[in-house]
Amino acid sequence: MPQNVLSYSGQSAMIKNSNELKNLFKRIGYRCWQFKQVLFPVIDQNLWHEAILALPSDWRPHLKKLRPSERAHVLRVYKAVKEDNSLTEKEKERLLILALVHDIGKGITRHSLWFKIAKVIFPVSNAAHCIEGALLLRRLGADRKLIRLVLRHHSTMQNDELLKKFQGFDDRL
Ligand SMILES: [Fe+2]
Ligand SMILES: [Fe+2]
Repeated sequence: MPQNVLSYSGQSAMIKNSNELKNLFKRIGYRCWQFKQVLFPVIDQNLWHEAILALPSDWRPHLKKLRPSERAHVLRVYKAVKEDNSLTEKEKERLLILALVHDIGKGITRHSLWFKIAKVIFPVSNAAHCIEGALLLRRLGADRKLIRLVLRHHSTMQNDELLKKFQGFDDRL
């Protein structure tokens, strides 16, 4: 095999390895960040109170049942939607409400802190809180579209572009 071909394949293998290494460090960094968010959640109380005012008063006590780390996650997603200028006002309105209530079922499907830590490492099904959340919202008289979005908010088998956008925030934050 000619020398230049060998050196080219050697270089491309090195680039591939360095990209894989970069991705590995990124993943480790992200997992460390997730651990920190579960163990030491930061909640902007002013933003929290301002945000939940958009919800009917009988929905709010259900959000209070969420753990601090879950409320912090809800607020991060809410803030990201609020600051996304690519959304129309109507889309933003829908996603802000979804951001607040999408994990409302977690107040019912209560898991231990150890379960939550294990979830950062292992793939665990998210179906239970989606179903409980959707049932709770139905009892609270929520709009059918919102109930459907809550039910499907972890589903990858859908072609709703707005929900896909939301999942991008939800998975990352
Ligand atoms: Fe969720
Ligand atoms: Fe979430």
